[in-house]
Amino acid sequence: MKKIILGLTLISTMILAADGASLYSKCAGCHGSQGEKKALGKSKIIQDMTKMDLVATLNGYKDGSYGGAMKGIMRSQIVRLSTEDIEALALHITTLKNK
Ligand code: HEC
Repeated sequence: MKKIILGLTLISTMILAADGASLYSKCAGCHGSQGEKKALGKSKIIQDMTKMDLVATLNGYKDGSYGGAMKGIMRSQIVRLSTEDIEALALHITTLKNK
């Protein structure tokens, strides 16, 4: 029984990780494949951000409470994502550094 639960946990972790990676594919054009670029010369280097900061800024773009002059661009990227998607993305971005 324990082995089955462990197996299921592993599989669901893998699915989550895969999700974050595929969601990130549409971010890489601006932020870099490792989150190492200033998107359009404006954003912070997102690979340096903590998961908490990533979740907070992404949710902020989604609900309009965060952002600078170019926040409209980010809002259009984020607005259709669910809370789970944002969590998976943020987690994925924290794994990009030093890859
Ligand atoms: C068309 C280019 C573009 C794409 C695609 C894009 N971004 Fe951005 N991103 C930006 C810009 C420009 C900013 C700065 C916006 C502002 O003025 O607040 C930014 C800001 C951010 C920030 C906050 C950093 C800061 O400066 O505070 C995060 C986190 C982020 N983006 C994550 C993502 C994620 C995750 C995706 C994919 C779902 C994504 N971005 C897709 C251009 C882009």
